[in-house]
Amino acid sequence: MMNISEALQVRRSCRAFKPDSVDKSILLAVLNEAVRTPSWANSQPWEIFVAGGEVLRVINQTYLENSRNNVSPNPDIPHPKSWPEIANIRLKELISGVSLAAGEAAVKQFGELNQKFFNAPAVIYLCMDKSLTTWSVFDLGALSQSIMLAAAEHGLATMPAVTLVHYPEVLRNKLDIPDNLSIVFGIAIGYEDDKHPINKFKSARRPVSEVVTSKGI
Ligand SMILES: Cc1cc2nc3c(=O)[nH]c(=O)nc-3n(C[C@H](O)[C@H](O)[C@H](O)COP(=O)(O)O)c2cc1C
Repeated sequence: MMNISEALQVRRSCRAFKPDSVDKSILLAVLNEAVRTPSWANSQPWEIFVAGGEVLRVINQTYLENSRNNVSPNPDIPHPKSWPEIANIRLKELISGVSLAAGEAAVKQFGELNQKFFNAPAVIYLCMDKSLTTWSVFDLGALSQSIMLAAAEHGLATMPAVTLVHYPEVLRNKLDIPDNLSIVFGIAIGYEDDKHPINKFKSARRPVSEVVTSKGI
């Protein structure tokens, strides 16, 4: 059994999945463990929708059409108007890291894999009531990590991506997501395609010595 430190090390963004589907019972086991996540006043603001099979294929068709027709992404939680300089530097590091580990071809496939939902057999969409605030987005973020760590223990790979929620309208239609819910985030889930070069990439982190300021400890 994987301990938490191991799961934290093993989890990484999987940008290419095998087509093999995931048993519904395993998906539900992962979600059952993950909902132990804490939330403000135990509000448990999450409403979770899972799509796979034909429904996901149909959703993906619309995404591909939208992207071919240059339809602007319109996620319920908007993109920032601009990124601070440091975030742009990190993005460049991400792209050059992919290029170094997986080759230039993998960089070209980056966008395409996003558009194709990374070929994942299932996507988990995390939603919450529109009246809620950033605090509940915080709770959904915590839930996201719980889902990804629990999935790792079950031998599943995950991919957290805003691109998965770029076109909320089709998600609302095909998954019967009610209008009072914001579709906050998507996590693709399945089995890693370990032959795909893009999965050779493992992202770096700022050293803790740079991130943490401490006094009196
Ligand atoms: C809120 C959020 C949104 C993300 N959106 C995308 C995305 O749209 N496309 C993508 O390829 N990766 C996306 N990622 C994955 C990040 O790029 C990735 O987590 C980061 O580079 C660290 O790498 P790791 O997950 O492999 O440790 C997203 C991650 C988070 C947490």
